[in-house]
Amino acid sequence: MEIDVKFLQRLDNVEVKDGSVNSDHPMRKVTYQVAFEPTGWSKERAEKVAGLFDEMAETWKDKDFDSRVLPVLDAIERGGIERGGTGLELGCGTGAYSELLSTHFDSLLCVDISFEMLVRSTSTGGFRVRGDGSNLPVPTGSVSGLFCVNTLLFPLEVDRVLSGDGYLVWVSTSGNQTPIYLSPADVYAALGGKFVGVSSEAGQGTWSVFRRR
Ligand SMILES: C[S@@+](CC[C@H](N)C(=O)[O-])C[C@H]1O[C@@H](n2cnc3c(N)ncnc32)[C@H](O)[C@@H]1O
Repeated sequence: MEIDVKFLQRLDNVEVKDGSVNSDHPMRKVTYQVAFEPTGWSKERAEKVAGLFDEMAETWKDKDFDSRVLPVLDAIERGGIERGGTGLELGCGTGAYSELLSTHFDSLLCVDISFEMLVRSTSTGGFRVRGDGSNLPVPTGSVSGLFCVNTLLFPLEVDRVLSGDGYLVWVSTSGNQTPIYLSPADVYAALGGKFVGVSSEAGQGTWSVFRRR
């Protein structure tokens, strides 16, 4: 498959977040608060977000996943990540990427806060579990690769669950038009400079891969 890809950008010593809250979408503000503010996530917010995605679950599979998979594939191919180990897909939704990701890892856990999303998954890849990205149901240092495709970033949990040589893959399948969006520079900043990475674009999407500094 031919993919329109861009050069790799290094993410090291990136200055600060690029202030790209340029969307009126309510989830954009939530995304920034969760990534940058210690009080950005609460029990009330978790219930609200779960309810929101429960309502959208019925029609979620109607989205065009053929083009959306391009940045995920490109991140895997050009992001310098190795196969195998234990993977965690946060915010797996209806499992559009779970099959693909399950072939990348020895074992894959697919976590989502929305029960209605999880039950509509037709993917046979990975073990599905209802859980919250702010408190992942895995031991410290147990994850080789954490994939976040169009979902929220919980920096403390990224740092906690990833093994020493583990990596985070951050994908926004519609680039900065993605409602739940952080630019690669914002992800770098939200991770507090503890991780460095590379980023690029493929099709409509952006992706970045981070490892501990
Ligand atoms: C925009 S959807 C993306 C779904 C899928 N990754 C995709 O690209 O089709 C965001 C997903 O993240 C899930 N989500 C949001 N907050 C979450 C949290 N705190 N923990 C786990 N999943 C969460 C939602 O329920 C939803 O399924």
